[in-house]
Amino acid sequence: MRMVKVPLGERSYSILIGEGLLPRLGAECNHLGLGRNCAIISDVNVAPAFGQAASRSLAKAGFEPFLITVPAGETAKSLKNVQACYDQLAARRLERRSFIVALGGGVVGDLAGFVAATYLRGIPFIQVPTTLLAQVDSSVGGKVGVNLKAGKNLVGAFYQPRLVVCDLDVLKSLPARQFRSGLAEVIKYGIIYDAALFKRLEQDLAKVLKQAEGTLAEIVAWCCEIKAKVVGRDETEGGLRAILNFGHTVGHAIEAISGYGAYLHGEAISIGQVVAARLSEMQLGLPRQEADRIASLFARAGLPTSIALKPKQLVRLFEAMRLDKKVSGGELKFVLAERIGKVVRGQKVAGEQIEKALASTTISAR
Ligand SMILES: NC(=O)c1ccc[n+]([C@@H]2O[C@H](COP(=O)([O-])OP(=O)(O)OC[C@H]3O[C@@H](n4cnc5c(N)ncnc54)[C@H](O)[C@@H]3O)[C@@H](O)[C@H]2O)c1
Ligand SMILES: [Zn+2]
Repeated sequence: MRMVKVPLGERSYSILIGEGLLPRLGAECNHLGLGRNCAIISDVNVAPAFGQAASRSLAKAGFEPFLITVPAGETAKSLKNVQACYDQLAARRLERRSFIVALGGGVVGDLAGFVAATYLRGIPFIQVPTTLLAQVDSSVGGKVGVNLKAGKNLVGAFYQPRLVVCDLDVLKSLPARQFRSGLAEVIKYGIIYDAALFKRLEQDLAKVLKQAEGTLAEIVAWCCEIKAKVVGRDETEGGLRAILNFGHTVGHAIEAISGYGAYLHGEAISIGQVVAARLSEMQLGLPRQEADRIASLFARAGLPTSIALKPKQLVRLFEAMRLDKKVSGGELKFVLAERIGKVVRGQKVAGEQIEKALASTTISAR
């Protein structure tokens, strides 16, 4: 088992990464001084597969778990489901020291984390992420929240978990498309922070795709370490944390205009990162060859690297980018790469450049 610490003073916590960790969940929770009562929040896909194993492990360690199952998918991140969870917590008389276990992908983690942040003004919660995306990204860093009709993640909080348990075995049942989508964030860490990680992925992509045990553990831990460092230095996104948004301005806009679901998050940000790489080439002198390496790694991971937009869709894409909550004062600012492993944030980018970058991805990628 590997362990990564998220250094946040008295809110510090560990991320455990390895095989066979779910059966040890209860024992790990025993170190945290928690109350006996706990709720496992999971979704309709994950609960039947892993709910019992989580329950059993907690019960064996002396806890009294009960399961709350929510629907699966992005629409489950709603205030309606928050309310439904509150009602069940109250019915079971969960108290301040009781805790919540978020067992699922990023949807469950964001929803259950928000419930934990707000029920009784905050009760402890544990993340047990079951998708690759959740293991390397959403379960670490304490951003929790739900969607409104007006947009994604508009209601939320910064609320850190007490522990994150990444059992790599659970990824085996993840649909291949979901796994690849998570890889888009994995590759992102290489681009924004660590050229050695990027190179390693270029070399060992086949092993990662096969989920070869040692390799996957090392890569997941590597990503968690990078996220932990970034979050440790900027918990509430005052500055540095923005580098995690590399490729996300265009990515989020693609998700928004294509109707959530047409592109998985990782697929949309794969295209977004290739666009950002081309913009980096134009504006920051990222060597052509490195931008090509970026596009080619996403393509080899089975992710889309280009999008052909009709003029009307292009207009909507720009509208969506301007609506993105990361835009301030109406100006489009991007995280761009100087080279693989080193990015700069707050780069102003003109609309024409974005159009050019979008067009050049279509040509170079196909
Ligand atoms: N909080 C953050 O910092 C942060 C960061 C990135 C993304 N997110 C959020 O994460 C969400 C996306 O997360 P996601 O990609 O994990 O999606 P998800 O939670 O919807 O999971 C994807 C699908 O896989 C299923 N699933 C999960 N684990 C499985 C397993 N082990 N085997 C089989 N099926 C399984 C789920 O039921 C779901 O149908 C978005 O809402 C996004 O906003 C949050
Ligand atoms: Zn992302």
